[in-house]
Amino acid sequence: MEITYHYDELPKVAEAIAQLLIPSDVVGLSGDLGAGKTTLIKSIASFFGIPRDEVTSPTYVYQHIYKGQLDIHHVDLYRISDEQTLLGLGIVEAMEENGIFLVEWIDRFPACFTPYLHIRLEVVDQDTRKIKIDASGWPLSRQQSWQKVFV
Ligand SMILES: Nc1ncnc2c1ncn2[C@@H]1O[C@H](COP(=O)(O)OP(=O)(O)OP(=O)(O)O)[C@@H](O)[C@H]1O
Ligand SMILES: [Mg+2]
Repeated sequence: MEITYHYDELPKVAEAIAQLLIPSDVVGLSGDLGAGKTTLIKSIASFFGIPRDEVTSPTYVYQHIYKGQLDIHHVDLYRISDEQTLLGLGIVEAMEENGIFLVEWIDRFPACFTPYLHIRLEVVDQDTRKIKIDASGWPLSRQQSWQKVFV
């Protein structure tokens, strides 16, 4: 599944994704610096009643938890140097609990997070982004629900 969207269309795209999410889901986001990972997470979080201003990049603290209709765990792996450090933070264990996990730079340590929905972002032009959504890491039942929403 591929979607190309202008900044103005972001709320619509984020809502389509957010509607599919249920507690304990892990969504991994990858793409270059400035591709739009945090910006997409802001819009997904706002679907769950979290103000956009509350959502900021947890680059140095690795994780922010926002309280909304569901807890949103916003994780950023950019500055985590190795798997040992990541496992020591307890983020991966927390995934057994309720809440939705949105993980920037998941491609740095993909093996720590399976199964997850993978969203790859690319810059098309200044205000346009392309996302490629890969649900193959999810159980089949979840992959089908994904197709229903978008077809
Ligand atoms: N269609 C769009 N979707 C998302 N962001 C967009 C779009 N058009 C323009 N932008 C701008 O692109 C920038 C994306 O920055 P953002 O912090 O979300 O990137 P990031 O992928 O999280 O980067 P980093 O790897 O540094 O965390 C923002 O300034 C945002 O306003
Ligand atoms: Mg970011």
